[in-house]
Amino acid sequence: MTKPTRTSSLHTHLFLSLLLISHANSQSLQDQEQAVLLKLKSYLQSPPFLSHWIPSTSNTSHCSWQPEITCTNNSVTGLSLFNTNITLPVPPFICDLKNLSLIDLSYNYFAGEFQKAFYNCSKLQYLNLSQNSLDGKIPDDIDSLPRLQYLDLGANYFSGDILAAIRRLKELRNLQLWMNQFNGSVPPEIGNLSNLKDLNLSYNTDLVPWNLPSNFTWLKKLKTLYIRGSNLIGELPGTLGEMAALEQLDLAYN
Ligand SMILES: *[C@@H]1O[C@H](CO)[C@@H](O)[C@H](O)[C@H]1NC(C)=O
Ligand SMILES: *[C@@H]1O[C@H](CO)[C@@H](O)[C@H](O)[C@H]1NC(C)=O
Ligand SMILES: *[C@@H]1O[C@H](CO)[C@@H](O)[C@H](O)[C@H]1NC(C)=O
Ligand SMILES: *[C@@H]1O[C@H](CO)[C@@H](O)[C@H](O)[C@H]1NC(C)=O
Ligand SMILES: *[C@@H]1O[C@H](CO)[C@@H](O)[C@H](O)[C@H]1NC(C)=O
Ligand SMILES: *[C@@H]1O[C@H](CO)[C@@H](O)[C@H](O)[C@H]1NC(C)=O
Ligand SMILES: *[C@@H]1O[C@H](CO)[C@@H](O)[C@H](O)[C@H]1NC(C)=O
Ligand SMILES: *[C@@H]1O[C@H](CO)[C@@H](O)[C@H](O)[C@H]1NC(C)=O
Ligand SMILES: *[C@@H]1O[C@H](CO)[C@@H](O)[C@H](O)[C@H]1NC(C)=O
Ligand SMILES: *[C@@H]1O[C@H](CO)[C@@H](O)[C@H](O)[C@H]1NC(C)=O
Repeated sequence: MTKPTRTSSLHTHLFLSLLLISHANSQSLQDQEQAVLLKLKSYLQSPPFLSHWIPSTSNTSHCSWQPEITCTNNSVTGLSLFNTNITLPVPPFICDLKNLSLIDLSYNYFAGEFQKAFYNCSKLQYLNLSQNSLDGKIPDDIDSLPRLQYLDLGANYFSGDILAAIRRLKELRNLQLWMNQFNGSVPPEIGNLSNLKDLNLSYNTDLVPWNLPSNFTWLKKLKTLYIRGSNLIGELPGTLGEMAALEQLDLAYN
């Protein structure tokens, strides 16, 4: 008679343990996110604009650290440090916040190369690094961010080629590469980004002179195409008129 009782009490015990473990796990995940944010605050040398990032025992309190933090289901999904005068390299541990889908670091003085640390943000959809002091090449494994929909690298000092690897970012809607120091070529493969709605390559005056590839006219969802002052030469492709969605076209100063 004792056997069934022992089994069921063992089950109950197991069940309670699992419950406790799963609770402890989510608790420690929240604590871990808060710890990463506090590490970020200290990395940024505790600037006055982050004085409201105050640690608390309540595990999701960092979700109220507005406007910099956005949470979804009590987990950090957005980090916005827009226009805050930061002059450091991008924090290499930024993607210890595993659930980030939005990173906006625009209008700062972030320096150094494009950080592969971003690749650890496997859910990243929106990356805005515009108006900074980043340089070097766009890495050829940038397609390690397959969910990217918005990529803004405008107004930096990136150089080299605009890499064909970009064509594998199939979800891209908006690609902003304006005002950099690209001194190589533009890949016709950009024409394969079938979801693209906005493309801005303006003010890349160091590009090797290039023809607008007919492949670009495959971009059937493209609404804005800006290639002002970027060394375009030759003729425009005869199929330009087939870009049915196109609303704005700026090819001035070429
Ligand atoms: C900690 O977070 C978990 C999961 O979000 C939640 O169930 C729990 O109530 C939180 N505990 C405290 C003390 O805020
Ligand atoms: C948030 O939680 C709800 C309910 O559990 C779920 O349906 C939704 O997919 C979650 N959202 C994210 C972004 O994880
Ligand atoms: C990230 O989101 C998933 C699903 O929404 C959730 O299970 C997980 O706990 C979150 N991660 C952290 C670090 O909170
Ligand atoms: C950035 O610097 C400008 C000029 O010094 C200043 O007016 C502004 O308040 C600073 N912004 C922040 C977030 O510290
Ligand atoms: C991604 O995170 C893992 C574990 O935290 C770390 O070992 C690795 O160096 C990170 N990768 C990059 C590219 O930062
Ligand atoms: C990036 O941020 C800047 C400044 O807020 C904004 O003008 C720009 O539209 C953003 N880029 C994208 C692709 O949303
Ligand atoms: C392109 O610019 C980079 C950075 O200024 C430079 O190192 C490189 O030699 C240039 N390449 C060419 C082909 O001019
Ligand atoms: C660009 O289009 C031409 C035909 O118009 C094609 O032969 C070529 O393979 C395409 N290039 C790429 C990189 O897709
Ligand atoms: C580009 O798209 C065309 C037509 O969809 C396809 O045949 C070609 O293989 C693609 N090229 C690349 C380089 O992805
Ligand atoms: C794109 O390029 C144009 C010039 O063609 C520039 O005036 C504009 O500010 C750029 N768009 C964005 C969203 O930055």
